[in-house]
Amino acid sequence: MRSTSQGTIFDGKDTMIQLIHVSKQYDQRSALSDVSLEIGKGEFVLLMGPSGAGKSTLLRMLIGAERPDGGQIFVHQKSVTTLRPSDIPYLRRKVGTVFQDFRLLPKKSVFDNVSLPLLVQGVSSADIRRKVTEALRAVGVEHKRDQLPAGLSTGEQQRVCIARAIVNGPVVLLADEPTGNLDPVLTSEIIELFKLINARGTTVVVATHDPLVMAQVNRRVLTLSQGRLLPEQRGLA
Ligand SMILES: Nc1ncnc2c1ncn2[C@@H]1O[C@H](COP(=O)(O)OP(=O)(O)OP(=O)(O)O)[C@@H](O)[C@H]1O
Ligand SMILES: [Mg+2]
Repeated sequence: MRSTSQGTIFDGKDTMIQLIHVSKQYDQRSALSDVSLEIGKGEFVLLMGPSGAGKSTLLRMLIGAERPDGGQIFVHQKSVTTLRPSDIPYLRRKVGTVFQDFRLLPKKSVFDNVSLPLLVQGVSSADIRRKVTEALRAVGVEHKRDQLPAGLSTGEQQRVCIARAIVNGPVVLLADEPTGNLDPVLTSEIIELFKLINARGTTVVVATHDPLVMAQVNRRVLTLSQGRLLPEQRGLA
């Protein structure tokens, strides 16, 4: 691991995420074919590739939401592929996610939405208050804590989703198309937020097909094409 002006660069040590010859098929069609990769502790990596390339499939596997047909996956030194169901909550605490299918609950306040992952774990109400306040402050929406999601702009709602993903202090943050519905200005703000979270030590993996994100991030890019990993390139900025 080396620290440079472009952030932490992975040099083979301190692995946070490792895939070894991972493959996945749906209905006899390959979603991922023989994918091997490593992501180091503290890295910020972009996962790119056109629609259907396998980006979401790969991210879902990292939290045990999908199982590969072949190969092995390790996250934070634990094998995700052989995880027992009882180990999944531990993994979910270590890995924060900003995925499109985990929307905010419309009838719950911002505060309540962000506190949900902690409530599930039985965290005390004093700790919940402290952690949720910290997470909302980190993403800049503390002043919206008592509002319902509908009263927030799209960018603010996305910030709340990020607060919910980091409220447990995860070691890894995975985001699937986190800027999909945002204009260039908001995209840029959200990317800056991910950079800030990464600068505090969290390993960040963002799946996107947005070239704007790639230009702004300027970190290692992993590109999938029809389920295969292409040789590596770097961001353009
Ligand atoms: N649950 C599923 N059942 C059947 N096929 C699936 C399923 N999930 C993904 N696939 C298929 O696997 C391939 C990879 O899909 P995936 O969603 O991982 O791509 P992606 O790179 O995230 O695409 P996008 O940029 O559109 O989000 C596609 O061919 C898709 O149709
Ligand atoms: Mg996807």
